[in-house]
Amino acid sequence: MHIKNKHCVVTGAGRGLGKQIAIDLAKQGAVVHACDISDEAMQNLKDDNSNSSMTFHVCNVTDEDSVKTMFAGLAKIDVLVNNAGITRDGLFVKVKDGTTTTMSLEDFQSVLNVNLAGVFICAREAATKMAEGDGGVIINISSVSRAGNFGQTNYSAAKAGVDAMTVTWSKELAKYKIRCAAIAPGYINTEMVAAIKPEALDRITSQVPLKRLGEMHEISRTVSFIIENDFINGKILEIDGGLRI
Ligand code: CAA
Repeated sequence: MHIKNKHCVVTGAGRGLGKQIAIDLAKQGAVVHACDISDEAMQNLKDDNSNSSMTFHVCNVTDEDSVKTMFAGLAKIDVLVNNAGITRDGLFVKVKDGTTTTMSLEDFQSVLNVNLAGVFICAREAATKMAEGDGGVIINISSVSRAGNFGQTNYSAAKAGVDAMTVTWSKELAKYKIRCAAIAPGYINTEMVAAIKPEALDRITSQVPLKRLGEMHEISRTVSFIIENDFINGKILEIDGGLRI
């Protein structure tokens, strides 16, 4: 699929990876529909991209009605980039110096809600529109954590689920000319990674064979690659500098 003039929805486009993907797709001539839960982030993106063909939507991916309203307002969707995600990192069980703490059910469920149910809702609405039209491409942002990661019971479970949905949809939706693939980034230079405490981040970076964080454009280029290569379907592309947990 050529990117130029294609209608691409990017969730979580207010900052970080989603913002970079939205801006890069717009530079390649796509009509980008950027969405984010944050009104302020959308306003900032709008202010910085007033000359592009981007449209801006405040949308909570966990709210079915909010997602349905956004998609209903779009005439056409060729590409969905399911990027919106959160972290609530913490140890599953920690016993130290006579004190025990655990990951709360709330932290488990909030991550599952955004990172798994949110992907489900957005993909379902996009796929419905694509299936009724000329097909399209769904790209889910997974993570290297999909294989299980220290401190990320919730996030890892959600990303493993995202991968399973990706493969399922690649099988179910192909007959509607819809391809589905995922990208599993490693540790990328984003606000999310910057929030990791320095000693934990040092430990992680030392385990990456390339000894550095990835850059956002290295993931964004992979989004373009998946869109443009019509034979990619049902695969999880690992872009992690060689770190495989
Ligand atoms: N492997 C083995 N042991 C580890 C470890 C690791 N990766 N990380 C920490 N430990 C050890 C620590 O050395 C410590 O040992 P001692 O008790 O013997 O001192 C013990 O485990 C507890 O670790 P902390 O002191 O760090 O515990 P904490 O409760 O203060 O913090 C945590 C826990 C919040 C999970 C913190 O370790 C952390 O932030 N880890 C990084 C989690 C991570 O990778 N998040 C990714 C966010 S970015 C993202 O998610 C994007 C993406 O797609 C990758």
